[in-house]
Amino acid sequence: MPTYPPKNLTIATTGASGAIFLRHFLQAVDGDDRIETVNFIASDSALRVMAEELNLKGRSNLVDRILSRRPSRKIQVKSNADIGANIASGSYPADAMVVIPCSVGTLARIANGVAAQLIERAADVSLKEKRPLVLCVRETPLNKIHIRNMYRAADAGATIFPLIPAFYYRPASLDEMAREFAHRVLAHLGLPQPQAFRWKG
Ligand SMILES: Cc1cc2nc3c(=O)[nH]c(=O)nc-3n(C[C@H](O)[C@H](O)[C@H](O)COP(=O)(O)O)c2cc1C
Repeated sequence: MPTYPPKNLTIATTGASGAIFLRHFLQAVDGDDRIETVNFIASDSALRVMAEELNLKGRSNLVDRILSRRPSRKIQVKSNADIGANIASGSYPADAMVVIPCSVGTLARIANGVAAQLIERAADVSLKEKRPLVLCVRETPLNKIHIRNMYRAADAGATIFPLIPAFYYRPASLDEMAREFAHRVLAHLGLPQPQAFRWKG
């Protein structure tokens, strides 16, 4: 059974818009001592989007540049081509997986069991082992294929957690908006953040 709250987290990022959400999610995870191990995978398309949105080019020191602070000790980078990586097997004790942002292409592959690369394989393993899988899907507008695939993934056990931020706490910046979204995803996994906004009614 996976540990709750998760100590061993898999984080994948794909070629959907919203790299700033990944940055804040990784920063929060890196700073949360309850999380001991992180396996991180970026698809090739994620790099293309990060070049546009975060002005990051190439794969060298990718995590440190996304974090834009000191090197992380616990975030291990895996190649999306390496289907022999630890997280490709159900025998590896991953506790939960988050795909942020999740493209509708990756959603389609996960929802239909196409596990050719590590991101989809690790997601497939999460579902078969009944471990939490959170898909932060981003696309607009949605066609019926996207909607069907969200239904299929949710029906198989995934949580569809669309990249739709809240506005009622009146975020003063994009960073604040993305940070708060990261806090919501972590709270959903059983890792509430002390500095998160709490609605008091
Ligand atoms: C700047 C940019 C923004 C994109 N935004 C989205 C998006 O919001 N959602 C999406 O599903 N695809 C988006 N795409 C297209 C995906 O990157 C593309 O479909 C890619 O094949 C997805 O590959 P992956 O799922 O392996 O990462 C975008 C591409 C670029 C270059």
